[in-house]
Amino acid sequence: GDYKNIIVSQAGNGVTLITLNRPKALNALNSELFTELNHATAAADEDASVNAIVITGSEKAFAAGADIKEMRSKEFAGAYKSNFLGHWTKISEVRKPIIAAVSGFALGGGCELAMMCDIILAAPTANFGQPEINLGVIPGAGGSQRLTKALGKSLSMELVLTGRNLSADEAEKHGLVSRVVREGDVVEEAVKVGAQIGKKGQVAVQAAKEAVNASFELSLHEGLRFERRIFQALFATKDQKEGMNAFAEKRKAQFSNE
Ligand code: HXC
Repeated sequence: GDYKNIIVSQAGNGVTLITLNRPKALNALNSELFTELNHATAAADEDASVNAIVITGSEKAFAAGADIKEMRSKEFAGAYKSNFLGHWTKISEVRKPIIAAVSGFALGGGCELAMMCDIILAAPTANFGQPEINLGVIPGAGGSQRLTKALGKSLSMELVLTGRNLSADEAEKHGLVSRVVREGDVVEEAVKVGAQIGKKGQVAVQAAKEAVNASFELSLHEGLRFERRIFQALFATKDQKEGMNAFAEKRKAQFSNE
């Protein structure tokens, strides 16, 4: 890809690594960066040799938010007519698993981007927050919704209303991230998780992601029904036969992703 704000590389084992690359602005997310990110994730989603995507930033910042300098002169009519930030939701339509490897600041839109991913791994330096209140606005890309689902009401309210940030340890304690890994290891570890997922049957992987995500949208009754229907449908796949036969025959499964 011919990108100016991100670097896309293949990390091996079917993992695409996307590195946000606006170091001078702490990876502030401008429109062009997000357009490129949408393009790169959609391309990885369509590429049969890719099974998982890792998104990371720099040591100092995953992303310090939406680009304030780009936003500051916007007016309501223009923001509304252009559906400002509307295209940020595209990431959440990607079917393959996306892992965020977060070091340093993940603030505002940066925290929201991390939360659009399926798994967040944090370095000890990771710092999460929604400081939009300090700018006279509120989160605009899921910060009031996804953060509340992850942290619950009281802590979410505290962050969104005061602009206080969470340390990596607090984020882990409250379930915002799956775990904190050793200093310097977060990208490598995220790639490892991606590679691990890549060894499974990929129909089941996509189905599993879809089912977990459905829990955020559906009632328990509908969610359980949705899960059961997909579970039943997976008996139509070769991977189910291979997975269960391999277990019975005491050998390793060789999934064909069919
Ligand atoms: C534009 C940004 C930026 C941002 C940092 N920079 N964050 N530019 N938009 N969100 C730029 C700075 O202006 C500066 O540029 C350079 O990056 C380095 O930042 P410093 O502030 O000098 O670094 P430091 O002193 O280490 O402080 C780091 C920081 C601080 C605490 C993260 O930069 C900060 O508070 N940033 C803003 C965080 C924020 O409010 N995020 C939410 C944005 S609103 P120069 O040119 O001076 O070197 C948002 C809305 C979401 O995300 C709505 C939906 C998406």
